[in-house]
Amino acid sequence: MSTLDVIAARRSAARLVGPGPDPVQLGRMLEAAAQAPDHGRCRPWSFTLIPAESAAAFGDVLASAYARRCRETGEPVDPERLAKERAKASRAPVCLVVACRPRLDGRIPVHEQFAAVAAATQNLLLAATACGFGSKWVTGAAATDPAVKRALGLGEHDGVVGFVYLGTVPESARQRPRPSGEASPSVRVWTYAESHPAEPASTDTGGDR
Ligand SMILES: Cc1cc2nc3c(=O)[nH]c(=O)nc-3n(C[C@H](O)[C@H](O)[C@H](O)COP(=O)(O)O)c2cc1C
Repeated sequence: MSTLDVIAARRSAARLVGPGPDPVQLGRMLEAAAQAPDHGRCRPWSFTLIPAESAAAFGDVLASAYARRCRETGEPVDPERLAKERAKASRAPVCLVVACRPRLDGRIPVHEQFAAVAAATQNLLLAATACGFGSKWVTGAAATDPAVKRALGLGEHDGVVGFVYLGTVPESARQRPRPSGEASPSVRVWTYAESHPAEPASTDTGGDR
């Protein structure tokens, strides 16, 4: 597939089954992720694999974070949602947490470092597509939950850019066609005149002088 074909073929997969990428394939995908544009070579990304043997424990972290958020907001705990949180890390063969750990020396703005990590995440998804795997990038309330961040070893200024799921798209899942026009954004052409509108004609009659 050409690069453009890979970009056009990438979709968020609703369901991912085995097999997932093996360690060599995953390594290549992460190398592709780390080729992202990165102003100042900050290397702000961090990738954390939630291995199958830790998926239940990470699910517990997500579930108790959800329950705590409910207590804080006074919302009743939805048992279905609780079970969904608990099962999240096991819903695909590979669950990766992509985070930004920005350098705070002021040299490169923090928002640019988050942009670099978003670019790395997209590289990861495209590399997965190129290797024949499906992917899904999600965030949700867990991404900004302080207890989830703590469990991942992230600090106050760090942020989860996405939970990335990788695996095989089941045969039965049809490729969702893009709504027409979605992949062809309109482009506005800037002109100098637009930013310098003509001065309105003067209505000053000079009567007060
Ligand atoms: C920063 C970010 C966060 C996202 N979070 C979620 C999410 O929480 N849940 C979800 O279903 N999709 C999430 N997505 C995936 C997009 O919504 C998805 O790409 C969109 O549905 C378009 O589908 P496509 O990827 O097949 O083009 C996220 C994407 C990005 C870039």
